[in-house]
Amino acid sequence: MIRFDHVSKTYVTEADTVHALRDVTLEIAGGEFVAIMGQSGSGKSTMMNIIGCLDRPTSGSYSLEGHDVGRLPDAVRAKLRGRAFGFIFQSYNLLPRLSAIEQVELPLIYQRVPNRRALAAEALARVGLADRAHHGPTQLSGGQQQRVAIARSLVVNPRVILADEPTGALDTKTGGEVMTLLSKLVDEQGITVVVVTHEQSVADYTRRALRMRDGTIIEDTGRPALRTVNR
Ligand SMILES: Nc1ncnc2c1ncn2[C@@H]1O[C@H](COP(=O)(O)OP(=O)(O)O)[C@@H](O)[C@H]1O
Ligand SMILES: [Mg+2]
Repeated sequence: MIRFDHVSKTYVTEADTVHALRDVTLEIAGGEFVAIMGQSGSGKSTMMNIIGCLDRPTSGSYSLEGHDVGRLPDAVRAKLRGRAFGFIFQSYNLLPRLSAIEQVELPLIYQRVPNRRALAAEALARVGLADRAHHGPTQLSGGQQQRVAIARSLVVNPRVILADEPTGALDTKTGGEVMTLLSKLVDEQGITVVVVTHEQSVADYTRRALRMRDGTIIEDTGRPALRTVNR
């Protein structure tokens, strides 16, 4: 599903040149639940940005479902990004004035999908928030806000969810609930989920952990025998 062949990413600024990823070769199959761990600056977000088509490799190739994505024109990549990926962030990234259901409808508006209200309601129900549809962010707890963000990512039926520190702002119990919800999406819907985290207790919910240092993967505790392939 996701395949990196000798991917490097170099940022050149006036001050210096940063090798954010160095010659990374990696494969993630459909339906995998993967954690990316490593210290700040090790290249985790760069890896997520390339996977999610927000950024391109400097060298090497990235292919998604067999298509060499790094070489697609920007407009095609943008469309692919909106259809194939859901993004979840530490800070939820909700808009302050919109109700939960309006937040979830947003990606559908961008994609001009009809029947938006019903689809958004269904996505909210999938994260257990049917009864909070008309609450705004300030009326929701942190865990509920993150579930709204998950519903917003789910509503386009993504094949991959990319979550950068999704539990970073939550207490352990609430963070566990978010991870349990993500596990369910993997198990019941075959969505591929990649989670960046600093915490081993969060990574323990996943089935494979990549550890990064200085732009390379120094450890991959994937257990191929347990992986569900080709879902
Ligand atoms: N847009 C950018 N311009 C210049 N350097 C960057 C940029 N984005 C990331 N970097 C650098 O690349 C390295 C990896 O960053 P990042 O992928 O964000 O690491 P992590 O998410 O593991 O903290 C860091 O040294 C960071 O400063
Ligand atoms: Mg980061």
